[in-house]
Amino acid sequence: MTDLRTPDGEPAELPVLTVAHLSDTHLTSAGTLYNNVVDADLALDRAAAVLEQAAADGRPIDVVVVSGDLTDTGDPDAYRRLRSRLEGIAPQIIWATGNHDVRAEFHRSLLGRTEDGPVLQVVRLPQLRIVVLDSTIVGAGHGRLEPGHLAELTAELAEPHPGGSVVVLHHAPLPPPSPLLTYFALERESRRALAAALAGTDVRLVLAGHHHLAGSGMLGTVPVAVAGSTAIRTDPLARPGHERTTRSGSFNLVRFYDDGHTVSVIPVDGAEQVFDLDPAAAAAVIDAHPVNQVG
Ligand SMILES: [Fe+2]
Ligand SMILES: [Fe+2]
Repeated sequence: MTDLRTPDGEPAELPVLTVAHLSDTHLTSAGTLYNNVVDADLALDRAAAVLEQAAADGRPIDVVVVSGDLTDTGDPDAYRRLRSRLEGIAPQIIWATGNHDVRAEFHRSLLGRTEDGPVLQVVRLPQLRIVVLDSTIVGAGHGRLEPGHLAELTAELAEPHPGGSVVVLHHAPLPPPSPLLTYFALERESRRALAAALAGTDVRLVLAGHHHLAGSGMLGTVPVAVAGSTAIRTDPLARPGHERTTRSGSFNLVRFYDDGHTVSVIPVDGAEQVFDLDPAAAAAVIDAHPVNQVG
């Protein structure tokens, strides 16, 4: 990697783990458009192509997290297409289920499991533990965390991980940005219970989806990063009472460092490049801006 120069002579900070956090891919059955308008496979392909190009350019992704509403109606073929498009992008792909998924089919297609109830997934990497919750209620759009499921989470978190932990769930545990999302929100009691379960643990960050709008907030003392949908975007500034959606996709790039993390929203809607400085050109800009030595 090119040496990076800092203004104070400190070593450049490099991430110990890079996560691509995708959400709400909403892959439909063949021949059906999402919301009758959007080709969700094409939208996913745009995000996947960005990640493949990044890896080819020397920016590999360590983990892909997809935080639910993977499919629009739980079609087994949609799960197959999703897996097929994303496998190979990162050594580890982590799936969460959403209200548009069908739990039994999600378990069968992506986890290779047969349980009827919510499954707590735990992935322990050297740098980070990733714990995935199921916030769905069979047959409903809103979210809930069952007490037994939260008890499993509490038991898992009782033993800290050397790199700390991340919790993934579909229904964002934050105030929702629109009227429909207000109705289809995570139940407030579940939000409070999750905050209590995470307080004092090694959880560094919560990753969620469902809002179709990238955003961030706090759940008690724990930061929450919400990834937008790869296909559409909710407009939080629509007229009060209106639900307004735009054809616009994004994902989040989450970088973990020894002592913190960053979350960057990466739009994948074809914005025009302004410039791309090569290392020599970047060095020329740096050389033109010498650091003032204040005595
Ligand atoms: Fe969704
Ligand atoms: Fe959802």
